[in-house]
Amino acid sequence: MKKFKVAVVGATGAVGREMMRMLEVRDFPVGEIIPLASLRSEGTKVVFRGKEVAVKNLENFAAALPSGAPALALFSAGGDISKQYAPKFAAAGCFVVDNSSAFRMDARVPLVVPEVNPDDLAADKKIIANPNCSTIQMVVALNPLHLAAKIRRVIVATYQSVSGAGGRAIEELLAQTKALAEGKPVPPPSKFAYQIALNLIPQIDVFLDNGYTKEEMKMVNETKKIMRDESIELSATCVRVPVIRSHSEAVWVEFEKDISPEAARDILRKSPGVEVVDDPAAKKYPMPLDAENKQVTYVGRIRRDISSSAKKSLTFWIVSDNLLKGAALNAVEIAETLLKKKFLV
Ligand code: A2P
Repeated sequence: MKKFKVAVVGATGAVGREMMRMLEVRDFPVGEIIPLASLRSEGTKVVFRGKEVAVKNLENFAAALPSGAPALALFSAGGDISKQYAPKFAAAGCFVVDNSSAFRMDARVPLVVPEVNPDDLAADKKIIANPNCSTIQMVVALNPLHLAAKIRRVIVATYQSVSGAGGRAIEELLAQTKALAEGKPVPPPSKFAYQIALNLIPQIDVFLDNGYTKEEMKMVNETKKIMRDESIELSATCVRVPVIRSHSEAVWVEFEKDISPEAARDILRKSPGVEVVDDPAAKKYPMPLDAENKQVTYVGRIRRDISSSAKKSLTFWIVSDNLLKGAALNAVEIAETLLKKKFLV
């Protein structure tokens, strides 16, 4: 089988590291790996398939393009870096799977969750956007139910782990938690606006004119694009919680047709990328600690929404590892789909 030259932009970051690990554990046909980051990290070693590889400076690497161009680049170094460099990589003939929000709502750019809309990929669409972490795990669970009973309206509240804000956010939570446990003064927040240890912050990203945050509107707009249905009405409240890894979501979903909790459970059990954990009598339901490092999206607490008498609403709980399905895994699955469709050749 042909092997490809693959670059990971942001290879020293929380998601970039997982991208390298997913390429490895899923046995993606990598002939050469090129870890890229800022000048700060130049020469730092990262490990791929048991071997140390030196991190290169993105700026220098990009300046030499198209010489040395990889066939595939996975980007996770923030929106500004993506805007600046992804088009350069694409112009050099490289498929770019971009984890930032830079291109997600660009009509020319496919926004893909392989379980939902693999057919949005095309041979000539070199930049592909990886959706927002909270959106990915939600649509993996919503899409099969949408196909069965057509969704009208979704209300979601998220419980998002700190790793979604990057490696330094994890350090901040750990340092604050340690100080609290030792009865020492809590180090001041820097990555978050407030102390996150023993707290919740009902703001992720900046506020917009409509009172929602950018993160909340990403869930609204990206869901419609991925599920190719502008008629779905959505409202989200996104909350940062003192959890290291995995995002959780409470969702209320109104359908056009009647759908029972049993039918929804059956559909979800057969759906790709989903695992149903739903046995309240045995205290079995998805939790972030259990989802850590897992490559599936867990759904549980599936029940009728008693606020609606029409028997057309369900409420349930979705948990997935935000660094994996919410980022690195979905990016690698997009790359796998490019291979399967013979776009990446
Ligand atoms: P570096 O470690 O050299 O700063 P996280 O999301 O965990 O904070 O990680 C962000 C990633 O993006 C890191 O790999 C970081 O590299 C990378 N990055 C940040 N700024 C730049 C830049 N100007 N050029 C290249 N990579 C960058």
